[in-house]
Amino acid sequence: MAGGAGEVRDLRDRADIARLVREFYARAFADPIIGPIFTDVARMDLEHHLPIMCDFWETVVFQAGTYHRNALTLHEALNRRAPLGEAEFGRWLDLWTATVDDLFAGESAERAKVQARRIASSMQRRLAGGSGSAFETIGTRDRLAAAGEIDDVGEAPAR
Ligand code: HEM
Repeated sequence: MAGGAGEVRDLRDRADIARLVREFYARAFADPIIGPIFTDVARMDLEHHLPIMCDFWETVVFQAGTYHRNALTLHEALNRRAPLGEAEFGRWLDLWTATVDDLFAGESAERAKVQARRIASSMQRRLAGGSGSAFETIGTRDRLAAAGEIDDVGEAPAR
């Protein structure tokens, strides 16, 4: 529970995002379904990745505009080595949602969960060969996507 004091408040700043992300990856790395993808397949260096993940979530939740990389291509490459399907995305989302709920509550916390669902489903569709418009926007049109102004339901406009 938040702060170890049983008190749960909303996400407020990058330090909160960092706490959330760190806790999420602790759970994800230990997970029987998706853990090995991080530890054995990608051999993800968490300390190197944490600032990047904080940029990403700060952009998604607070429209910080600090994330400018292409997360989709990384997951496309990963998907070729360890197929990411329904089971993996489902577990990823369950872990993310539970971690947010255990640590934070409020508008920003809700946004972190809603946007994760949107991004995960467009990423999953994209990896399966379909359209993934909302996910593509993260990094290119991150502010709009983060603000929820681009929906993952529609097709990406021609660019
Ligand atoms: C099946 C579920 C998923 C798995 C197993 C997974 C795994 C990974 C791994 C192993 C990396 C490191 C890749 C590398 O640098 O080699 C990574 C990076 C990343 N993931 Fe995921 N991921 C999943 C879903 C998601 C979802 C749903 C989101 C967003 C809502 C997300 C956001 C990111 C971001 C932002 C990065 C950093 C990309 C960068 O370096 O710029 N992932 N993921």
